[in-house]
Amino acid sequence: MLKVNGWSSRWASLLLLCLAVCSLITPAVTVKHENFKTCDQSGFCKRNRAYADTALATSNWASPYSLDAASVKFEKGILTGIVSKKIATTGETVRLPLTVAFYESGTARVTIDEERRQKGDIELRHGSKAKKQRYNEAEKWAVVGGTSVSTGAAASKDAEAGTTKIVYGPASIFEAVIRHAPFGVDFKRDGETQIKFNDQGMLNMEHWRPKVDKPVAEKKEGEEDVAAEADAEDEGTWWDESFGGNTDSKPRGPEAVAMDITFPGYQHVYGVAEHAGPLSLKESRGGDGKYSEPYRLYNSDVFEYEMDSPMTLYGAIPFMQAQKKDSTVGVFWLNAAETWIDVTKSTTAANPLSFGIGSSVTTQTHWISETGLLDVFVFLGPKPQDVIGAYSELTGYTQLPQQFAIAYHQCRWNYVTDDDVKDVDRKFDRYNIPYDVIWLDIEYTEGKKYFTWDPMTFPDPLGMNKQLDEHERKLVAIIDPHIKNEANYPIVEELKSKDLAVHNKDDNIYEGWCWPGSSYWIDCFSPKGREWWKGLFRYDKFKGTAKNVFIWNDMNEPSVFNGPETTMPKDNLHHGHWEHRDLHNINGMTLVNATYEALLARDKSEDKHHVRPFVLTRSFYSGSQRLGAMWTGDNQAAWPHLEASIPMVLSMGVSGFPFAGADVGGFFGNPSKELLTRWYQAGAFYPFFRGHAHIDTRRREPYLAGEPYTQIITQALRLRYSLLPAWYTAFHEASVSGAPIVRPNYYVHPGDEKGFDIDDQLYLGSYGLLAKPVTKEGQEGQDIYLADKEKYFDYFDFWTYEGPGTVTVAAPLETIPLLMQGGHIFPRRDRPRRSSGLMRYDPFTLVVVLGHSGDAEGTLYLDDGESFDFEAGASIHRRFSFVGATSTLMSEDLAAAAAAAPSKKAKDYLKLMEKVRVEKIIIVNAPAAWKGKEEVEISEGLDGESAAARKVTLDWHPKEAGKAAWAVVRDPGVRIGGGWKIGFA
Ligand SMILES: *[C@@H]1O[C@H](CO)[C@@H](O)[C@H](O)[C@H]1NC(C)=O
Repeated sequence: MLKVNGWSSRWASLLLLCLAVCSLITPAVTVKHENFKTCDQSGFCKRNRAYADTALATSNWASPYSLDAASVKFEKGILTGIVSKKIATTGETVRLPLTVAFYESGTARVTIDEERRQKGDIELRHGSKAKKQRYNEAEKWAVVGGTSVSTGAAASKDAEAGTTKIVYGPASIFEAVIRHAPFGVDFKRDGETQIKFNDQGMLNMEHWRPKVDKPVAEKKEGEEDVAAEADAEDEGTWWDESFGGNTDSKPRGPEAVAMDITFPGYQHVYGVAEHAGPLSLKESRGGDGKYSEPYRLYNSDVFEYEMDSPMTLYGAIPFMQAQKKDSTVGVFWLNAAETWIDVTKSTTAANPLSFGIGSSVTTQTHWISETGLLDVFVFLGPKPQDVIGAYSELTGYTQLPQQFAIAYHQCRWNYVTDDDVKDVDRKFDRYNIPYDVIWLDIEYTEGKKYFTWDPMTFPDPLGMNKQLDEHERKLVAIIDPHIKNEANYPIVEELKSKDLAVHNKDDNIYEGWCWPGSSYWIDCFSPKGREWWKGLFRYDKFKGTAKNVFIWNDMNEPSVFNGPETTMPKDNLHHGHWEHRDLHNINGMTLVNATYEALLARDKSEDKHHVRPFVLTRSFYSGSQRLGAMWTGDNQAAWPHLEASIPMVLSMGVSGFPFAGADVGGFFGNPSKELLTRWYQAGAFYPFFRGHAHIDTRRREPYLAGEPYTQIITQALRLRYSLLPAWYTAFHEASVSGAPIVRPNYYVHPGDEKGFDIDDQLYLGSYGLLAKPVTKEGQEGQDIYLADKEKYFDYFDFWTYEGPGTVTVAAPLETIPLLMQGGHIFPRRDRPRRSSGLMRYDPFTLVVVLGHSGDAEGTLYLDDGESFDFEAGASIHRRFSFVGATSTLMSEDLAAAAAAAPSKKAKDYLKLMEKVRVEKIIIVNAPAAWKGKEEVEISEGLDGESAAARKVTLDWHPKEAGKAAWAVVRDPGVRIGGGWKIGFA
């Protein structure tokens, strides 16, 4: 046995770490392909790809699924019926209940279940049991709204055509045409087909069948196995399946669900995060520059993951969008089991003599899940925001985080003592580098026992927290779902005695290996488990924590070092007797749910002003955006990883989970100073901005880089801090509409086909701020793609560019390529501070960027940045607009309705912010007519209160070669939360 105290435990864990992942220590970095299945090694994927091949290769392939017309009923926005599957070999029919729901939002949903699996349990060994049903609780975890059924939807049957047609959606412009035989659905908008289900005949629901022990027929040499040829299905993995020395028992037999979904006329598809590859998904069935494996979704701890790959990563969002000129549509495949998605494209010429003109690309996708219902939501757009908005209405909006959470986070594995933490904190101050949060990885615990502190290295956590709090800084501590199996550890004793851990296939507590060695896993699918977990974070339970301590949930895929594919066996059992295979991809989210609830409860129990929880997760599913932030896991200190981080973060943004970032500097390995610097410049544009490093790397806090690097990194951090009001407003927008925080070209310019596959530049919120961080070594210039006929200005020196087309921006090391698109106004706070909390009452700068129209607008959302008081209207929400024709800048209230009858909290907040002013207004591309004008006229009090008009100075700066003219109004003295107007002419 390992001795488990002090240094011996540290050695034990290092040894364990080495046993599990020894390659970590060597810099040679390639993913261990052999640890993860290919489609061919995953029985159900292989069977369904073979099924697809048969369907495609058979000239008159008839899908054996048909909707029994007599069974079809339509009532109150919901169609029901029975789909029959005809089994060719036996003539038998399998009944599959179908539901097609039409929601008010315009979203449609197709669900298919299986009658014979709906009741009863499966007896397992030792008298334990598993549910026989197809897993139907993914909805419970993922879907939180948007499911009120449409009263306007109307159905009609066309007996001759053999279809049922439903007209639905806003203004009744959507149509679902359900084909009875073979079963299929065409979704149309304005009469044009956008999405087709089962058009290629790949629908396949593996039906319930009893296990028969067939005698293994001995085959004589030279003898053809005729029967096996005819019934080509590979039954070898129906009842058990082995991989990497683990055998998965499959008490329910084969039960995959699969279907093809076609997007006719759509060249690009995006989504199905998380993968390390381009934003626009590649074809996956082989060929030049294409993948030969499907995109896989099976949340896994993939060490040293590779670039440009459809391999699975830590999280799964089975939501896909398709894009063609001026049209976006999407589907959400609600299934929590292991899922594979093939993508192929085909080109059809409109006319054989047209020489490609008028030809169109169609994207076909093939979705394959191991178990569960077939349950697909359909979004018909037409704009990117319509699709993301509808998906977000279903799965929930991004949590509005505390302001500190969108500032800079300093992490490493590990800050080794509380003195070390305090020292790093002081050094940031000494070097005038802003940061908000310092993080503790697993080593702070006593022997990897969560909810404890190592008494040798962290004797005074409260003192440490107190020092951080002096500058409004926070601590984030890691808490993982594996609980050390060790005597005299009260947490594990309770976990066992209350029976709250995940069970193995024999329904006994499941034991596996993770950081602490032998461990058990909390089952957060269990309401009792979550309730217990909630209690563990109380200040009197998790001693050493204080109000400025928040939580990081790692390893929640879950990562199990000795498990199949580094995770749990699929035949493990969870609350409700569901098998792990049914709900694997949701597992990580349930832990974050419990942790979020725990942080809420922690404050409530103190009956104080309670603050919004912050939880970072590695594993996620659709809906995780409601609970916190994610990061892209264990990347490497290598240029390709920096480069890949941009499409990965953009992909999260259009997948409804925009609070995303990659480890700045790269987790494994030591970055060169140039790479580290460039990474900070890129990180300043990640919604989640954290530097992190592996235990074997050298220290790399920004102040250690030396000049000029430390200065350049500090500038990148200051840029982030000065733009925090814009970031916070973008987060607010995401929290009410689901809009991405950083946006790819196609989202901002859905009519610009040339920009559909651009994924190395991004727009911040709705501000027209276009960044393209340098991601290549030695690169001194950056080509930026401008989609529209508009003026763009360099953020720092107002150098003027004009779209459409590609422009080259100088990008020496000290520069972040960042342009301002004409037509926008954005807010900043320009006074350098140690942390964002200290900026709370700082004055604002407004930057007005004038383009071709001469008009500009932008918004500002502001609240206390920490509590829930904003829910009672305690916020400032302004719209700034500049009208070229009259040369006036105005501030209007966007929350005027709430302001009419303000709550006490709303009034208190406005009072608190009364003195906060605009200290500067910069007008980029200021009209030449302002030359010689020395004053602007200010009228305040437009929100009701009275104030006299007054004049302040205007400074006008003429154009210099290549740069825009600009003007500045210093100290206009107007309130940030008030209504006012400034006349420039
Ligand atoms: C956590 O999950 C439970 C059960 O599904 C749900 O009722 C609750 O709202 C979730 N909490 C959060 C913060 O989403």
